[in-house]
Amino acid sequence: MCQEQKGFTLWFTGLPCSGKTAIADRLAQVLKERGLKVERLDGDVVRQSLCRDLGFSRHDRDENIRRVTFVAKLLTRNGVAVLTSFISPYREIRDEARREIGDFIEVYVKCPLEVCMARDVKGMYQKAIRGEIKEFTGISDPYEEPLQPELILETDRETIEESISKVLNYLRQTGYLEDNT
Ligand code: ADX
Repeated sequence: MCQEQKGFTLWFTGLPCSGKTAIADRLAQVLKERGLKVERLDGDVVRQSLCRDLGFSRHDRDENIRRVTFVAKLLTRNGVAVLTSFISPYREIRDEARREIGDFIEVYVKCPLEVCMARDVKGMYQKAIRGEIKEFTGISDPYEEPLQPELILETDRETIEESISKVLNYLRQTGYLEDNT
């Protein structure tokens, strides 16, 4: 029997418009092309299904992350490469996800707030500034930076391909990805 792929969760965290979804989507493609079983869990998607009842209070954000952690844990222990993209602004719940999932790689998608605001892909920062969206991360709600993430991707300074290479190198160094893949 061939050797089973070891599962892991790449947990992308960062401000809105920092680049989490773009990087995780592209990386998921790359990993699939290399023959890995891959699943994506993304905030905007999960919040239309599994977590459609939740808002953006601390309680609801933590509940969002708890449910995602539950799913990611099941997938990870079944040999899947899981790529999550959630703001996940609170350190404590990210640490809980780390403990639960075990094979957990925290990836801080770091980008200055001004750059995220200038990108404003969905116009939400502008709405938040006008007070039309409450509890918006970065404007009227906190983001707690990771203290010891496995990886930091600086999306205002590196291309998406450079960010992806960093993650691939890390996966090779830690044995989650074979050298020849
Ligand atoms: S988390 O804080 O619970 O991790 P999550 O990543 O699932 O957030 O969802 C973030 C997405 O919800 C954003 O991409 C944005 O489109 C939308 N959103 C709507 N309201 C808010 C808000 N108040 N703060 C942050 N994101 C919001």
